Amino acid sequence: DGRTLRVLGIETSCDETAAALVERAPDGSGAIVSNVVMSQIEEHAAFGGVVPELAARAHVAVLDTLVAEALSQGNVALGDVDAIAATAGPGLIGGLIVGLMTGKALARAADKPLYAINHLEGHALTARLTDGVAFPYLMLLVSGGHTQLVLAKGVGKYRRWGTTIDDALGEAFDKTAKLLGLGYPGGPAVEAAARTGDPRRFAFPRPLRGNPGLDFSFSGLKTAVRQAAEALVPLADQDVADIVASFQAAIVDTLKERLSRAAARFRDECEAADPTLVVAGGVAANGAIRAMLTDFCAGEGFRFVAPQPALCTDNAAMIAWAGAERAALGLPPAEMTVAARSRWP
Ligand code: KG4
Ligand code: ZN
Repeated sequence: DGRTLRVLGIETSCDETAAALVERAPDGSGAIVSNVVMSQIEEHAAFGGVVPELAARAHVAVLDTLVAEALSQGNVALGDVDAIAATAGPGLIGGLIVGLMTGKALARAADKPLYAINHLEGHALTARLTDGVAFPYLMLLVSGGHTQLVLAKGVGKYRRWGTTIDDALGEAFDKTAKLLGLGYPGGPAVEAAARTGDPRRFAFPRPLRGNPGLDFSFSGLKTAVRQAAEALVPLADQDVADIVASFQAAIVDTLKERLSRAAARFRDECEAADPTLVVAGGVAANGAIRAMLTDFCAGEGFRFVAPQPALCTDNAAMIAWAGAERAALGLPPAEMTVAARSRWP
């Protein structure tokens, strides 16, 4: 309606507690006013993965402070925001309840509309906040919890073209790292170790290669890595480097093959003057994967959009932005009875 919208966002679906303020101008452009994130990685590291109960308690401990910080960094009072947006799912239910309840309380106290946001929609719409990408576009979401190829047709209009039938890609990195004693979170550790490895030493499987669909599978690859490691015990550093380099090469190949199919389908089914591939999720920080995506898009004539790593991983700016996009379209806010959902495809 010709006005700049200012939205406060809250994200608590996994092991990041986050609050942010974003603005959406009438022309559809976005700006991040403040974006604060507190990672719980250290609290979970000793357990080699996220412990849901610890995560929920940590969100309770810091969320109020983060919301106050996001508002004060933006020099904005709660009464001056147009809407509040909180992640309602999918994710770890305890954390989701903490964030959604906080969002409800703030909305009720300040008499503002509340948007209950799907976390995946937050990831999907980030490229419109950062790069003004127009619909339709193709998105590859690769995180610790998700591995999806999505056609984004509009706000609230998504088609999931492919997903993982077993492990998420980030999970495959994390499990490989754990198996080889590389620590948690595994992605960055695997990437670092792979730099000095020989990617041709092990011929790991390329799961679902040649399969006509767009789904992914990573558990067979994980098994192959375990078998290779077990056959070499005790592992020398070079063995570990060669295993993870070969593992990463298998992943790069697999993603590339699926993306070729997805790009062909996008061309067939969508009329886009400027075909675009958007990447999101923590695994998108991986240098080898990014290099492949850059090459791939250049070869296919796709524009490649990769938001900066801090906006690819979990954050509240993406949740605030999804709320702003919904508010700008006049989509109805949530009822105060809205419930958090651990599963929400
Ligand atoms: O998006 P994200 O921060 O959290 C969610 O899962 O929602 O993604 C975290 C995942 C972890 O599995 C982590 O190991 C992986 O992203 N990751 C990486 C890299 N950095 C983070 N995987 C591969 N290479 C990296 N450099
Ligand atoms: Zn996420």
